[in-house]
Amino acid sequence: MLASSRTALRQAASKQICLRTGVRAVSAWSNVPQGPPDAILGITEAFKADSHPQKINLGVGAYRDDQGKPYVLPSVKEAEKKVVDSNLDKEYAGITGVPAFTKAALELAYGADSAPLKEGRIAVTQTISGTGALRIGGAFLERHYPGAKTIYIPTPSWANHNAVFKDSGLKVEKYRYYNKDTIGLDFDGLIEDIKSFPKGSIVLLHACAHNPTGVDPTEEQWIKIAEAVKEGEHYPFFDMAYQGFASGDTNKDAFALRHFIKEGLLPSLCQSFAKNMGLYGERVGAFSIVCESAEEKARVDSQIKILVRPLYSNPPVHGARIASTILNDPALNKQWLGEVKGMADRIITMRALLKSNLEKLGSKHDWSHITSQIGMFAYTGLKPEQMDALAKEHSVYATKDGRISVAGITSGNVERLAESIYKITG
Ligand SMILES: Cc1ncc(COP(=O)(O)O)c(C=O)c1O
Repeated sequence: MLASSRTALRQAASKQICLRTGVRAVSAWSNVPQGPPDAILGITEAFKADSHPQKINLGVGAYRDDQGKPYVLPSVKEAEKKVVDSNLDKEYAGITGVPAFTKAALELAYGADSAPLKEGRIAVTQTISGTGALRIGGAFLERHYPGAKTIYIPTPSWANHNAVFKDSGLKVEKYRYYNKDTIGLDFDGLIEDIKSFPKGSIVLLHACAHNPTGVDPTEEQWIKIAEAVKEGEHYPFFDMAYQGFASGDTNKDAFALRHFIKEGLLPSLCQSFAKNMGLYGERVGAFSIVCESAEEKARVDSQIKILVRPLYSNPPVHGARIASTILNDPALNKQWLGEVKGMADRIITMRALLKSNLEKLGSKHDWSHITSQIGMFAYTGLKPEQMDALAKEHSVYATKDGRISVAGITSGNVERLAESIYKITG
């Protein structure tokens, strides 16, 4: 039976019941299955319910200061004040957002001297942070990519990639990335897989600070990855959610993207300002596509607008105005770059402290991956049962895959964290 006739029958039946008995109608949602809870939010719930006075939450991917508190960047406060003081109206932005923001976002990612930028051949739209950029990108590929609608993502990848691309209508396949024996990059596996993809495949690449592993290719390895992508005539799709957050230098973190462009590749790019500006809840991001010509860009632009309009019409303006003020005001921009470096450096220091504390305790394990990995997360190599024990016995909460958010470590909790890990691992 067709779904529509089933629904009509059910509605008629429930109307009859109501007329006869006055009982409430059968709900349209009575057969909706219970979905599983979000893995990360579940950790936060368990953390909140724990009464241990020194409990530690290393689950959430949000930066904390050395007191373990959320951090609003001083440059963001300053920019927000400027935005409020300028008394702007609250009219709609255009479909693709605040132009001063998207222009500056492109300069930050591609570099002010980027050839495609100077030649006016990068199509861009403001997005609902990085997730929105991935979703618009996924939808654009699904509608317009001329080859197979399959996207290859690394194993493992950010937990949401699979769902975002599937819901965009793409098929998701995996490529080798992480070697659990070395707790490092499976470079040979990665290259072998890229070379084995059908010609013209879409490849998702984490531009820097790979989430969840914290394992990034070196610049030499990126050069080889670009060669393999070019050889296979594959389509590079970059996710750059952490520019500046990995090394503390926004240019260094953009190496992979800029190298691909130097090699003549035409990638697309998802940007987020959640982490590097701490604008998590403001949802500021951008999606861009490098085109072959300005004429092609104009056509791509028009299709991006056609995609965005029925989804949310146009993006919110407040966060984009803050980011735009920071990126376009030379003094604020300089201050922000210093603050990004400050956040990255604090994370690097916490990595070193965790490792040295584990060594001081006499741990026989090699913890060098803690300091060789980069960005917000460290992949400890701890097994799910060890992560369970960390939570149950030590009130230290993180995801079962052994990922810890280094941004949640402070000089006040690092010793207790090291002791807890030492007790679990020996
Ligand atoms: C790899 C990666 N991509 C994209 C995102 C999207 O973040 P947001 O939507 O908050 O900008 C994240 C957030 O954790 C991420 O780690």
